[in-house]
Amino acid sequence: MQLNGAVVFVTGANRGLGEVFATEALARGAKKVYATARNPAAINIAGVTAIELDVTQPSSVTRAVAQAGDVTLLINNAGIAQTGSLLDDSAEQQIRQQMETNLFGPLRLSQAFAPVLAQAGGGGIINVLSVASWISSALLPTYSVSKSAAWSLTNGLRLALAEQSTQVLGLHAGFIDTGMTKDFDVPKTSPLDIVTATFNALEAGLSEVLGDDVTRLVHQGLSADLPVYLAPLVR
Ligand SMILES: NC(=O)c1ccc[n+]([C@@H]2O[C@H](COP(=O)([O-])OP(=O)(O)OC[C@H]3O[C@@H](n4cnc5c(N)ncnc54)[C@H](OP(=O)(O)O)[C@@H]3O)[C@@H](O)[C@H]2O)c1
Repeated sequence: MQLNGAVVFVTGANRGLGEVFATEALARGAKKVYATARNPAAINIAGVTAIELDVTQPSSVTRAVAQAGDVTLLINNAGIAQTGSLLDDSAEQQIRQQMETNLFGPLRLSQAFAPVLAQAGGGGIINVLSVASWISSALLPTYSVSKSAAWSLTNGLRLALAEQSTQVLGLHAGFIDTGMTKDFDVPKTSPLDIVTATFNALEAGLSEVLGDDVTRLVHQGLSADLPVYLAPLVR
């Protein structure tokens, strides 16, 4: 689908990648952008309609969707990432928290907007996933659980929404230079590069976009003789 003339709804648009999604949607000719956040007063983008939304709260989702009945593109961007081992006592609680935001949030929004998108002739959904959907790590294993689940959700939604012609695009990326990674001393891609690649893929009609070289390498390695998700186990 095309951004020009689209009505775009972005979750977590007050900072990071979400802020760039909202800004760039306008730059590409979106007719309207709903920029949503837990604290809408923190949204500082000229020309957007700010809406309060906590993706973990069903009543908040219902209220937000009711204010945006003309949406043609949903961007499930809001997310949280927690560090810590799967063997920590806190792991179960961490996984539950990240699933609420990273999995059930996009599920709730996608269900609520499905009829709205159908009415618009199909429209689109972008789900912000991660290279961590495919590989776990010592740093972010509980986050990986939630992003693997969100990848599967994305693939399932694509099938469920095919009949109503909704384009479902999954974005996978490694480290992006946002608040989420401020404490990580690693190479990072700029949010603008990621959003540009994502919108290019959307406009090209694709179902998946690999945002950086690391993600492309990992994707290739999934079907290697020694798949990349097993490689760290081999010493
Ligand atoms: N940064 C990376 O390296 C990277 C790599 C791959 C994928 N991603 C994914 O990219 C997406 C955006 O992350 P980011 O890098 O921009 O991180 P960020 O700078 O930490 O921003 C996260 C955004 O999500 C919002 N959010 C968190 N919980 C929410 C909730 N319950 N309801 C509504 N909004 C909520 C935050 O709002 P508050 O200001 O209220 O907290 C904030 O706007 C996430 O899905 C993340 O997993 C990030």
